[in-house]
Amino acid sequence: MTDDKSGSVSIDGGKDNAADPKPTVTLARLYEEQGFLDKAASVYKRLLVIEPGREDLKERLERIQKRLPGSSVQPGKSEAESLVIHLTERQKVDSEGKKMLDQKSETPRKILVIHGPNLNMLGRRETTVYGTSTLKEIDEEIKRTAAECGMSADTFQSNHEGELIEKIYEAMDGYDLLIINPAAYTHTSIALRDALLMLDIPIIEVHLSNVYRREAFRQKSMIADVVTAQVVGFGKDGYLLAVRAAANMTDRASQKGHPA
Ligand code: DQA
Repeated sequence: MTDDKSGSVSIDGGKDNAADPKPTVTLARLYEEQGFLDKAASVYKRLLVIEPGREDLKERLERIQKRLPGSSVQPGKSEAESLVIHLTERQKVDSEGKKMLDQKSETPRKILVIHGPNLNMLGRRETTVYGTSTLKEIDEEIKRTAAECGMSADTFQSNHEGELIEKIYEAMDGYDLLIINPAAYTHTSIALRDALLMLDIPIIEVHLSNVYRREAFRQKSMIADVVTAQVVGFGKDGYLLAVRAAANMTDRASQKGHPA
């Protein structure tokens, strides 16, 4: 099946090279970001030849094909689907062990972001430590970034431990990934930790400030060994980095071995 009419690919979109670079999701994303949609589509098609069961790749290919000028892709009858139908059936990637980045099988689609106590006061609270953005502004940026990455994000804030715990329960069934800044509860709450232990989705712990450069009591996180990853010290950008990292989890999953 020769799906790559453009021949070989080059990041700058210039003349074709003699040999095709190895197709990877990262390469496809680079093309996509730089507007070389036909080349991105070509890479996704080649990836689907290798892994026909990858629903996330099919979805990405369909999205790109819809954006291509003169696209003839019909809803429900995508080129990706027909391509895959003609390929040998391969077992879908096992979704066991979702918590590890390198075991995650699909790009998260639905993200839940939970903010702990006093974060509703961002913009007015210790602005030299936490910045001047309000929580509303941060939540809007989180949602925008998630949408840019082809995902959706719901956000939630509470000053009450029990409410935070009950929100974590909601992540059990309805979400693919949790981003949480438990704020002061980070350092004290075994109850929050226990709730997080029930999740089998990746969890990213975010802190606006670099807690490891602050008072000793802030350097202890009750959840650090329960979460998949931590992002600290980038201010509000930490949330956006976490969202972008979530979108890249499939890239990492496709690399055998551990996350970079
Ligand atoms: C925080 C750090 C915590 O120690 C503190 O209690 C917070 C915010 C942060 O985002 O830097 O409320 O989680």
